[in-house]
Amino acid sequence: MTRILLTRAWPDAAEARATSLGDVTLRWPDTPMTAPEWMEAARDFDVIMPTVSDTIPPGFYEAAHGKVKLLASYGVGYNHIATDAAKANGIAVTNTPGVLTDCTADLAMGLLIAAARRLGEGERELRAGNWDGWRPTHLIGKKVSGATLGIIGFGRIGQAVAHRAHHGFGMRIVFQNRSRIAPEIAARTGARQLDTIRAVAAEADFLSLHCPGGTETAGLIDTTVFDAMKPGAILVNTARGDVVDEDALFAALESGHLGGAGLDVYRGEPALDPRFLRHDNIVLAPHLGSATQATRNAMGDRALDNLEAWLAGAEPPDRVA
Ligand code: DGY
Repeated sequence: MTRILLTRAWPDAAEARATSLGDVTLRWPDTPMTAPEWMEAARDFDVIMPTVSDTIPPGFYEAAHGKVKLLASYGVGYNHIATDAAKANGIAVTNTPGVLTDCTADLAMGLLIAAARRLGEGERELRAGNWDGWRPTHLIGKKVSGATLGIIGFGRIGQAVAHRAHHGFGMRIVFQNRSRIAPEIAARTGARQLDTIRAVAAEADFLSLHCPGGTETAGLIDTTVFDAMKPGAILVNTARGDVVDEDALFAALESGHLGGAGLDVYRGEPALDPRFLRHDNIVLAPHLGSATQATRNAMGDRALDNLEAWLAGAEPPDRVA
């Protein structure tokens, strides 16, 4: 029987479905696997179902050669998997696209509004018993409706954010994307594609990141991008922490050029650079983009659809390597 490992706890319904599909190990406690555990798993399992917070040691892929045949990941991003090494060692890789688009886009808008309207600062003031009451100059933020939103990465999630921002908040949309986006897709949100990230940054009151993580995009949002942004503009990141050069981010916050940020992801998470806590004008969420019951169930189902296809000898629908 196919031996299958789920590296972290999944929603109950998804775990129940998983256990009907083979000899499934539901690993417990729900902590990240250590490197020795990964090396052991390389010898013991035919299929491993990892997730986006797993750190897979580089030696795993060669050790898994001939044993592990599928990494069916729970999550859309797969920058935690060395796809070239997987391919070279005969391991197929799948992800879970589509099902978390809405919730991630919802959270991006939530962070944008929270940072613009200073909700974190307000809540902290209130909880500390320091609220003196309404006054015309209290916690003045930045208007969202009608402002310009710059989007970096105009895939599913970028487009869903554009839809919310344009049709819900009357925002103008400019975006940058690696490839040319069909004019009819851009037209749905009245969006304009610009050639460079800096050009988008220069027009945007808010800049929201929706590109994939990985070596190609590491440090993409650097000093030159922060410098190009309008004074007081706000950055939103629900993509991957590595996309932002955090030193450049802190410099832009410290100089006051960057008006604030709404962040869901961090380089080296869950460790948090202590500098994040020094800035009151940033709203910090612990990687919650897809964290709703409906979406986490759907992610499990999508990962298992890939597994089922593979078990049936068919091409998994979301194969990325
Ligand atoms: C993903 O799936 O890539 C998100 O970061 C977590 O849901």
